[in-house]
Amino acid sequence: MALTFSILYGSVREKRQGIRAVKFIQKQVEARGHKAIVLDAKELPLPFLDKMYKEFDEADAPENMKTIANALNGSDAFIVVTGEYNHSIPPALKNMLDHFQKEYFFKPSGIAAYSAGQFGGMRAAVHVRAILAELATPSIPTMASYPKIQKVLDENGEAIEEYFIKSTNKFLDELEWYAEALKRQRTEGTPY
Ligand SMILES: Cc1cc2nc3c(=O)[nH]c(=O)nc-3n(C[C@H](O)[C@H](O)[C@H](O)COP(=O)(O)O)c2cc1C
Repeated sequence: MALTFSILYGSVREKRQGIRAVKFIQKQVEARGHKAIVLDAKELPLPFLDKMYKEFDEADAPENMKTIANALNGSDAFIVVTGEYNHSIPPALKNMLDHFQKEYFFKPSGIAAYSAGQFGGMRAAVHVRAILAELATPSIPTMASYPKIQKVLDENGEAIEEYFIKSTNKFLDELEWYAEALKRQRTEGTPY
C-alpha cells in the first residue's frame, strides 16, 4: 500500500547537522515506494505560537501554516526528527508541533533522534514521545537513533556506516505496519 509520510524537522541553525538524518530517512521512505513530505521549520518558519491553526479562519491562516496543515492532513504517518538541546527538543520543532492538533489524530508517528555525542538524542526522544502522546499520534515502540551524526551520515543523506541502513529499515518496517493498519481502520470511521 503506497503511503504518505510527513517528516518534521526543527533545527533552524545555520550549521545544522540533523538535515543529514532528514535526507537519509526521506530517501529510505521513497525507496519503499512511498511519498515523503519534508516539513522543515527553517524552510517553513512559523511565528512563536500565538494562535493555533484551528483558531484561524482558514483563509486568514499564514501560508506556511496552511502548507503544513495540508501536509499533515494528507499524511498517513509522521516521522519526527529531533536533535537534543540541553536534554530536550529543539524549540522550533516544539513550536511547529504545537500549532496543530486534529491533523495528527488516529495516525501513528515514529521518532528519529540524533546528536553530536554518543547518546543519539535519546533524552530528547523520550520528551518527544510524551508530546506525541498528548497530540494523539501514538508513537511506535522502535526509535531510529543516530549518535555522532556527523560521522555516521554524510551531507547528502547517505549512510557512512552500514548499520544505520539496517536499523532505519527496522524502524520503517514497523512504522509502515502501523500506518497501513490505522489507514485501513480509519476507513471504518473514527471515534471523534
Ligand atoms: C543549544 C544546544 C544544546 C545542546 N545540548 C545537547 C545535549 O543536551 N545533548 C547532546 O547530546 N548534544 C547537545 N548538543 C549538541 C547537538 O547534539 C549537536 O549540536 C547537533 O548537531 C544539534 O542538532 P542540529 O545540528 O540539527 O541543530 C546541543 C547543541 C546545542 C546547539
